[in-house]
Amino acid sequence: HAADALRTDLMTITRYVLNEQSKHPESRGDFTILLSHIVLGCKFVCSSVNKAGLAKLIGLAGETNVQGEEQKKLDVLSNDVFVKALVSSGRTCILVSEEDEEATFVEPALRGRYCVVFDPLDGSSNIDCGVSIGTIFGVYMVKDFTEPTLDQALQPGKNMVAAGYCMYGSSCTLVLSTGSGVNGFTLDPSLGEFILTHPDIKIPKKGKIYSVNEGNAKNWDGPTAKYVENCKFPKEGSSPKSLRYIGSMVADVHRTLLYGGIFLYPADKKSPSGKLRVLYEVFPMSFLMEQAGGQAFTGKERALDLLPKKIHERSPIFLGSYDDVEEIKALYAAEA
Ligand code: AHG
Ligand code: MN
Ligand code: MN
Ligand code: MN
Repeated sequence: HAADALRTDLMTITRYVLNEQSKHPESRGDFTILLSHIVLGCKFVCSSVNKAGLAKLIGLAGETNVQGEEQKKLDVLSNDVFVKALVSSGRTCILVSEEDEEATFVEPALRGRYCVVFDPLDGSSNIDCGVSIGTIFGVYMVKDFTEPTLDQALQPGKNMVAAGYCMYGSSCTLVLSTGSGVNGFTLDPSLGEFILTHPDIKIPKKGKIYSVNEGNAKNWDGPTAKYVENCKFPKEGSSPKSLRYIGSMVADVHRTLLYGGIFLYPADKKSPSGKLRVLYEVFPMSFLMEQAGGQAFTGKERALDLLPKKIHERSPIFLGSYDDVEEIKALYAAEA
């Protein structure tokens, strides 16, 4: 009856994080305040993406970013709103964004203990055709945040205290880990609140889907080529995997997390370090995968063990169901 439809004990993302925080008496609510500003940014981008077509927000901004990519208007707008939200939170001291060549050092009066690395709009090549896109973020603690230095942003992914993404698709879904599992929250536009809809997400141990841009096959190395071959022509008795590739990392990873399988952006002859950026694409997604019982591998090592030297450094990445990643690890080990 009606009472079931309208639940009144809503677990909002704010309540969830406050519950988490109560487990850390030493924390003074700083993370809760930081998260509320990240959530504000996600709500703003969600609203802008939803009306992009109407508000002349599609198309190019007429600039190119440090990645050599033509920036879309929404890339620039999203970056702007996240930088402003994070600085004004008073809880950050260093920001690294895909869209800014240099790290942002927050002015002393507004400095806080966190470094946030983020991709304000991932999959932006898909904006104009309405395919799901997203925001990806990771959070590090900074030891001496009164005098922040760039090396505090170049920490291995395993040091992250939180990571997540917000996907702007048929619904606006924020997936978050603060180090004790993964939870999914869906924006209820009528309330303007993110409501817990996917508690304690665990990725299936093995999946039936592989996700890669097959257009790069000509340039793959041996182990990657062999792995994909095995997906399509498995040994006697097992059935081929399905290929699903959206070309938006947030959408491809979200499907992998919920349905299982493997997402790969391998190195190739043209891009020996692959395409995806370590700090704000590889690390947050690898953090979430491990927290959900999966794993993430670079072709050489556990992705979260990587120590980045530069803020826009790239790495090959193989992430998803535990057993599926084990298979590609075995192929690289055999070649090593
Ligand atoms: P971004 O839009 O933030 O630059 O990221 C795009 C990335 C990622 O979303 C996706 O997995 C990958 O680019 C797709 O690359 P290809 O088109 O080379 O497959
Ligand atoms: Mn980009
Ligand atoms: Mn991206
Ligand atoms: Mn991006």
